[in-house]
Amino acid sequence: MFFDDESTKIPRFVTSSGVIVSALPFAKIDAIQAEYSAFETGHETNGLIDTAKQLGVAFVAFSPLGHGWLVDNFDYNSPDDFAKDDFRRTVPKFQGENFHKNKAIVEEIKKLAARKGCATSQIALAWVASQGMIAIPGTTKSKRLAENWASRNVDLTKEEMSEMRRIVDAAKPIGDRFSQVHGAFVGH
Ligand SMILES: NC(=O)c1ccc[n+]([C@@H]2O[C@H](COP(=O)([O-])OP(=O)(O)OC[C@H]3O[C@@H](n4cnc5c(N)ncnc54)[C@H](OP(=O)(O)O)[C@@H]3O)[C@@H](O)[C@H]2O)c1
Repeated sequence: MFFDDESTKIPRFVTSSGVIVSALPFAKIDAIQAEYSAFETGHETNGLIDTAKQLGVAFVAFSPLGHGWLVDNFDYNSPDDFAKDDFRRTVPKFQGENFHKNKAIVEEIKKLAARKGCATSQIALAWVASQGMIAIPGTTKSKRLAENWASRNVDLTKEEMSEMRRIVDAAKPIGDRFSQVHGAFVGH
């Protein structure tokens, strides 16, 4: 949602369910875009997802691969491996010890993907879809685009959904989602 209207004082970015509700008198809201992945489920507990569901507003999940962590072959062994202009250099979750602790989170999901015979990214995306979200993964590589697109054909069984929920609930990432500068930009 990208209101930036001085007269209504509606914030430019959605940061809470309150923002959606305050916008309702001024606009028909079809969709919101917010972060959601097996790695970042904060909006399950702050009311944003519940409010969107109650109002019939579609939830478009950005960074559904956890900014690249929920994959078989993460290309980086330390924070120093990120390109100088990579956004993740600014994100506490990807810095110092947090980088190594959080990287381990994907290992459990990898085991599930191996058992199911598909890519870890596909499990991660199928899981986001199974939660009623529209996932928008980003990639600069056409092969990965095809792999991610094919996650639409991955159906998780009831048992696999339970397994994912267990993994997700047990493995909360360490470190903030944003640096102070970026956090202020999106109203945190
Ligand atoms: N509204 C907002 O505030 C906001 C904020 C952040 C992001 N977004 C949007 O959300 C979308 C995706 O977010 P994101 O790019 O931050 O995170 P993401 O989709 O969670 O992860 C993207 C990262 O994963 C890698 N990747 C993608 N598919 C892969 C695969 N199959 N195997 C291995 N690696 C894979 C990509 O690297 P390669 O490029 O090397 O493949 C890239 O580094 C973008 O369209 C972005 O514009 C919106």
